[in-house]
Amino acid sequence: MFDKLASQPNDPLLALIGLYNADARADKIDLGVGVYRDDLGRTPVLRAVKAAEKQLLETQESKSYVAPEGDRVFLDLLWDLVGGKDTGKFAAGVQTPGGSGALRLASDLFARAGTRRLWLGLPSWPNHAGIFGATGLTVETYPYFDVPTQSVRFASMMKAMTGAQAGDAVLIHASCHNPTGAGLTAAQWQELAAIVAERRLIPLIDSAYQGFGTGIDEDVAGLRQVIKAAPEALVAVSCSKSFGIYRERTGAIFAVAETQTAADIARSNLVTMARTSYSMPPDHGAAVVRTILASETLRSDWVVELNSMRDRLNGLRRELAHALSDGWQLAPQIAEQQGMFSLLPLSESEVLDLRKDHGIYMPTSGRINIAGLKSADIARVASVLKPLLG
Ligand code: LMR
Repeated sequence: MFDKLASQPNDPLLALIGLYNADARADKIDLGVGVYRDDLGRTPVLRAVKAAEKQLLETQESKSYVAPEGDRVFLDLLWDLVGGKDTGKFAAGVQTPGGSGALRLASDLFARAGTRRLWLGLPSWPNHAGIFGATGLTVETYPYFDVPTQSVRFASMMKAMTGAQAGDAVLIHASCHNPTGAGLTAAQWQELAAIVAERRLIPLIDSAYQGFGTGIDEDVAGLRQVIKAAPEALVAVSCSKSFGIYRERTGAIFAVAETQTAADIARSNLVTMARTSYSMPPDHGAAVVRTILASETLRSDWVVELNSMRDRLNGLRRELAHALSDGWQLAPQIAEQQGMFSLLPLSESEVLDLRKDHGIYMPTSGRINIAGLKSADIARVASVLKPLLG
């Protein structure tokens, strides 16, 4: 049977990890996969996570199964963090293996419910199209960001949405857009929420960077507006970045509806699809997040550390924008954008030359992970980039 299969290429984004590790140059710079790094290039385990793990080690008495939908206390606490208490809607969640697991279950649910089309803004996280295509959805696209001018194409996006039909799904990034870092204004969120509601589209909101943009509540303000306006919505949440627990694969998918019954029916479907795929989600990351969110002390320490990660990112953005400003007139946009990523107007061959000639690693799209910069690297990175951007 195996000889009937064609070998598949490595995922180009994840392959960057191996390429970077194999480079022997001491001054190499990793602006590839989206993980947070400190100024020493480390991705530390957060203090609150360590403390929660210690507590779990000491108090956990069983490794028996939890429940098909995962840890309900984790789900309730996470929904409070993301959806808040006054959406005026009912939510029902299922814990998933990471945000990708949540997106995949959402995609399965669309397929099961007969949703045929999903609208995806371009550019987007490269795995989005693959996840939605994998369950047979037709991926339609809407323009989101213009790389040469570093601006959101809001008018074109709204125009494209008028082509969507009632019942179509639409993927929306909650904040810290991956790969562009470019967000919507409050007025634009309002317009988006209105068109989603008016055309009876089903929003699937991907929230993977809460706290990395402006603040914990601010980063989900748009999401909450859309949920309030739309009769039904799905929200995919990743805990990877906000809690720094990437490899623990922790996330959730929430079905949001106007009645608890409708939300519960959606959840029962999500649970049965998970059961025939991976049965039940892994527990550890969710137990850690639950322990943090349930404890006043751990929660406030987590907020302090999350704020400091955001401050570091914003500081690096300002420093990079400043260092590029005498060679690239759009450099100030880098400081305006939010979260881990910005998307530079670089060609594939320029990106490959940056790797070969300077040991600077980024995906061929020209996306940079701002957190991969160290303050000491900024002058060198800027001097190499300026001739390409200017
Ligand atoms: C990224 O975009 O770099 C991250 O979300 C990691 C991933 O899984 O692609």
